[in-house]
Amino acid sequence: MAAPAAARRRVDELRREIAGHDHRYYVLDDPTIGDDAYDALLDELRELEAEHPELLTPDSPTQRVAGGTRPLDRFEQARHLEPMLSLGNARGADEFRAWEGRLHNRLRSLDIAPGELRFVAEPKIDGIAISLLYEGGEFVRGATRGDGVTGEDVTQNLRTIKAIPLRIDDAPKTIEVRGEIYFPRGAFAELNEQRASEGLSTFANPRNATAGTIRQLDPEITASRPLSIWCYGIGGHDGIEFATHSDELEWLRDHAFKVNGDVSGHETADEVVERCRWWEERRESLDFEIDGVVVKVDQRTLWRELGVSGREPRWAIAWKFPPITATTRLNKVVWNVGRTGRLLPFAMLEPVHVGGVTVSTATLHNEEDLARKDAREGDEVVVTRAGDVIPQVIAPLIQRRKGKRLRRAKPPKKCPACGTETVKPEESVWTICPNRRGCPGQNFQLVKHFRGAMDIEGLGEKNAMRFLDEGLITDPASIYDLTAERIAELDGFGETSAQALIAEIERSKQSPFGRVLYALGLPGIGWVNATAIGEHFGSIDALLDADAEAITEVDGIGPVLAESLREELADEAVLELIARLRERGLRFELSEAERRAEGGPLEEKTFVLTGTLPTLSRDEATRLIRAAGGKVTGSVSKNTDYLVAGDSPGTKLAKAEELDTEILDEDGLREILAEVGAPEPTPKQAALPPERQRR
Ligand code: IVH
Repeated sequence: MAAPAAARRRVDELRREIAGHDHRYYVLDDPTIGDDAYDALLDELRELEAEHPELLTPDSPTQRVAGGTRPLDRFEQARHLEPMLSLGNARGADEFRAWEGRLHNRLRSLDIAPGELRFVAEPKIDGIAISLLYEGGEFVRGATRGDGVTGEDVTQNLRTIKAIPLRIDDAPKTIEVRGEIYFPRGAFAELNEQRASEGLSTFANPRNATAGTIRQLDPEITASRPLSIWCYGIGGHDGIEFATHSDELEWLRDHAFKVNGDVSGHETADEVVERCRWWEERRESLDFEIDGVVVKVDQRTLWRELGVSGREPRWAIAWKFPPITATTRLNKVVWNVGRTGRLLPFAMLEPVHVGGVTVSTATLHNEEDLARKDAREGDEVVVTRAGDVIPQVIAPLIQRRKGKRLRRAKPPKKCPACGTETVKPEESVWTICPNRRGCPGQNFQLVKHFRGAMDIEGLGEKNAMRFLDEGLITDPASIYDLTAERIAELDGFGETSAQALIAEIERSKQSPFGRVLYALGLPGIGWVNATAIGEHFGSIDALLDADAEAITEVDGIGPVLAESLREELADEAVLELIARLRERGLRFELSEAERRAEGGPLEEKTFVLTGTLPTLSRDEATRLIRAAGGKVTGSVSKNTDYLVAGDSPGTKLAKAEELDTEILDEDGLREILAEVGAPEPTPKQAALPPERQRR
């Protein structure tokens, strides 16, 4: 039975409306309706389609994962209408200018005036290249790049990406849209966290997660992961012409494709160079990974003249950033003892250039993480290093291990620092050196952490180690027994510098309770947790009296961490350290000023801080927020009201953007504080955690 005209009209209307909302949400990032209203539209459409199955078409938004779609056995081959090319590289300004010079020479030899050359600069997305084929406006096939001529047909999976339109209006006969699909960083971190908690292997980086997701034979799995896309060009086309690359991008935008808003046009190479540096500065704060900038000649008319060399067009180049990940060989796994006796693995690597420096050692985090990743001596591994972050081994390339018999690295039977037999308590994931008080390795690590946390000027890592070596100090508390006379005897110190150091050590006794708690170096108690615990309990005595359940009342502390903290606080060595520090006058309770203002105007409001603020230290910003009754937590979640972001903000910013959390800069924070009548902030003091602040 033919569907009544009214049903047909309504189905049409609903599809357009839903596609419009998908576009607003997934492409423009500017939704105009809420989830419930959106779901109501989809439900209505589903019902109508169920009633009138003859109206069902593949471009319906209900058909992104089509009902009855089966997992595939394998992917079909798909030949691109026009080959997908690759790009030549320029590492930095000199190589870029050399490319531009060659361009001019060619144009001159072809008798083309170079004066009118224009460039377009686009982020080079580090994802997976794909080609989307539209026929008569309908999305009919999507394929990976493959060898550039033929790729794999991953249409079913691409259909699940809501930023990809299933139908376009005013379409030419055929058109291939080219773009890069990617895993948003925030979502990637969540996916890995979830996989780790389920005991599954984690992805080495967002690109691998994208590749793994787009090559899923079951589209339901792809649909469950929030892939997105940036479109950057057009391949084969019939029934439309473009004079410039900018025209292509404009056409794409007009037809609901997602084109990056920071793509820019330039008249000169100088401008392009400046723009590439602009992108590089922003690299870390974007929600997608980029490994460079693609610079293209804008005039398509010149593309044919300039031609292609091998697989690389002469009219485009990739300005590549120094890599922040690299692949190298894991030569050996070495174990160190940490400040609480845990044995910690790190990797001795075949030296490799990453993030602008040569890396030959990297952390493998801990025993559990190492076992899960299963990196073995002899493996090829992916190493990453960003900014001043310690290099890390992310994952082995297991597929390259074939045929080799490599053994799993195991923690040593004896402590590498003191030779005591190591133990692995039942149920624990850690092997430890039980010689808590006597192990010089543990003491070394604890003093190192303590001095970093207390930020005593003049007691840098080198001096602290020297004092330990020479027997001037034995543990963190003994720092407070140092005398100017004793220090002045050391080479390199005079009376004045010794006295200045003693004054600094004295001053550090005024450090707030939260900082002292953090300085104790208890496992899992970083700065944010320590501050929250300090604030919750108000004094060390109240904390020592609390059971694990009471500790879980602190924001951000779950039962496992609470239990481990409880055990730590029952450990003789820890209690003795607390007692010794207390005797020497360190603060083990909150001052009046620090107590959070109950019922303050910012009660109910949760803040997260990231990056370095221009004038406020982290301590100060935290204190001000708390004084007004607000909460400061360590990570961005649905419950976060504001992210206060400074310079070098890191992934918290990406996460906040993904969750639509309000983002403030320092001025924004000051405005909110002023609105609620908080006291004027004081100028920047040493910010916490200090070892992270000094760059
Ligand atoms: S243009 C000739 N533009 O880079 C044009 N490619 O090394 C070739 N890519 O396979 C592609 N972002 O996967 C172009 N804005 C962008 C890009 C981009 C990332 C990737 C693409 C390509 C590879 C070339």
